[in-house]
Amino acid sequence: MEAEINCRLNGRAVRQAIDTRLLLVEFIRDVLSLKGTRVGCLTGDCGACTVDIDGSVTKSCMVLALSAEDREVTTIEGRTDIAHIQEAFVELNGFQCGFCTTGMVLTAAELLRDNPNPTEAEIRKAISGNLCRCTGYDAIVRSISSVARRVEDVRVLETGSKPMS
Ligand code: FES
Ligand code: FES
Repeated sequence: MEAEINCRLNGRAVRQAIDTRLLLVEFIRDVLSLKGTRVGCLTGDCGACTVDIDGSVTKSCMVLALSAEDREVTTIEGRTDIAHIQEAFVELNGFQCGFCTTGMVLTAAELLRDNPNPTEAEIRKAISGNLCRCTGYDAIVRSISSVARRVEDVRVLETGSKPMS
């Protein structure tokens, strides 16, 4: 059975007739051809399919495409504001094959938005729903941590003060 979906994806209106059983990750990859969102486990365990829906990271294999009706979906391709996080992953070897990186970067972006100066434990907790089979988590944590430090350095330069601890 088909139904029409109306949503916004990466800032653009999308209106499309789709199979009602289509998962959001399938809609993004197979219908809209946005391949930055990965398919891993399809059981909600790996986080490779992470996207942002209305400002919250969501595993897109766990929801039907139709659940995005009237919502704002942003994939890694639409996050032009987080190049600094991606650069940190490149500089500090936060990835090897890159399969998990979309989910890691989007999860890191949400964490740093809500908590600009997270502890290592907070970073590890935030990415606990994202699995990496290659790099090991130390380099990923270092990458995210370095973004937090740089943001803090800029803040100190701009305000000339360190935060109260
Ligand atoms: S593919 Fe969605 S969590 Fe693994
Ligand atoms: S870099 Fe390969 S799965 Fe994480």
